[in-house]
Amino acid sequence: MARTKTIHRCTECGAPTAKWAGRCPACGEWNTLVEELDEGRRVSHQGGPVATLVGPSEERPRPIGKIDAGAWAPVPTGVGELDRVLGGGLVPGSVTLVGGEPGIGKSTLLLQALAARAARGNPCLLVSAEESAQQVRLRAERLGVLHPDLWLFTATSMPQVVAAVSEVDPALLVVDSIQTIVDPDLGATPGTVAQVRGCAAALVALAKQQAVAVVLVGHVTKDGALAGPRVLEHLVDTVLSFEGERHHALRLLRAVKHRFGPTGELGLFEMGESGLVGLPDPSGLFLGDRRPGVPGSVVVPALEGQRPLLVELQALIAPGLPGSPRRSTQGLDGNRVALLLAVLERRADLSLAGFDVHTSAVGGVRVCEPAADLGLALALASAATGVPVPADVVACAEVGLGGELRRVAQTPRRLAEAARLGFHRAVVPASAPSPPPGTSYIRAVDLSSAIAQLGLLPPSSAANRGACPLKAL
Ligand code: TYD
Ligand code: MG
Repeated sequence: MARTKTIHRCTECGAPTAKWAGRCPACGEWNTLVEELDEGRRVSHQGGPVATLVGPSEERPRPIGKIDAGAWAPVPTGVGELDRVLGGGLVPGSVTLVGGEPGIGKSTLLLQALAARAARGNPCLLVSAEESAQQVRLRAERLGVLHPDLWLFTATSMPQVVAAVSEVDPALLVVDSIQTIVDPDLGATPGTVAQVRGCAAALVALAKQQAVAVVLVGHVTKDGALAGPRVLEHLVDTVLSFEGERHHALRLLRAVKHRFGPTGELGLFEMGESGLVGLPDPSGLFLGDRRPGVPGSVVVPALEGQRPLLVELQALIAPGLPGSPRRSTQGLDGNRVALLLAVLERRADLSLAGFDVHTSAVGGVRVCEPAADLGLALALASAATGVPVPADVVACAEVGLGGELRRVAQTPRRLAEAARLGFHRAVVPASAPSPPPGTSYIRAVDLSSAIAQLGLLPPSSAANRGACPLKAL
């Protein structure tokens, strides 16, 4: 009897190794090598069939201006925020991978996209390899999308999928998920890198042959237990990432890779009772519950991709247990907060050693760009002194280690959005370009100057002074 040979493959980068090791020799990730059968027929790590819309052609080289771009035009899905991220919609014959953690809302998003497209009279097919037909129907009922042109097929094997596509001839095919589809010809266990890549490659070929827009759903798990969608990134045309904080309704959609347009756009949704609702004007929503006049709150005009978003940053300072002050952050980079605390101590005489410091970005959004530095530092100074930052002020600058304020990219664009929502004063570095209409500047060379100009001074009473960490300005 012939012995079956096995190899090990990394679930992160897909690199094969002969022997098991705790760490992948190719990408350095830990505990990602899984055993699989070596049938000598797998797509090679480097040179797999790469998905392009360029088939084998007899065409001759032509001047670039003579090439017809019309054939690649995106077709809107009808879900506005998805179309925004895709730069208009899905291109027929292209393959898009939508990755995200389980439960984030991938199936819901794509059911809505299928339904919106079907509502315009294009047959659309959902291949559900995870949920039963009953489950999907119940969800469709709940979302109110039982459309006659929306077709559902529960299948887990590639030949069944191919047959269903020939039968329905859909304009849009969604396979949910790529990790649960199996090609019996590939021999390996479902969910292994070999299966996932083999099935994805077959679907890429199918998309091209039938000129159908294909969307693959891929679960990303932090522990890498499933073959991660990262091994598929080079196979597909577009990779979208669907994200959000577990305890928040806000969902963010971004393009990580996009062959048909820019990757800077951000799509925003709110998960509600009847599915995902697009948020074309999120800034207003983030600030909806803001209480002006509370110390420790500053609004910053953040930029997510190309999209300005006004986000409230909050800080709270409380006496800590001696020797073990607590630091917690939500939606912010903990290292950045630590750095700003050090700058406040050394450059603005605000020592928070011995105090508990809690900071957060409100609304379930993550703000990690340096442009939020000044806002965060002012929120900390405001929390420390108990003096609120005026309600119509935003802060927009990076803070250097010397305490100096530095200009950030696209300041006018950020401040235009701030002015639209009623923030007419902005604390900016001395070098900032002249203000957009409707905005006046509070220019500051450094953090101390910004703190002083906003009047974030310690309470004068001797009793309060002892509790106030701000020593002097
Ligand atoms: P789902 O689309 O199944 O996530 P994924 O495919 O990424 O695993 O969505 C799962 C969550 O969304 C589930 O916890 C329920 C919630 N949900 C709503 O809150 N409202 C809805 O209308 C729907 C359909 C789902
Ligand atoms: Mg799902």
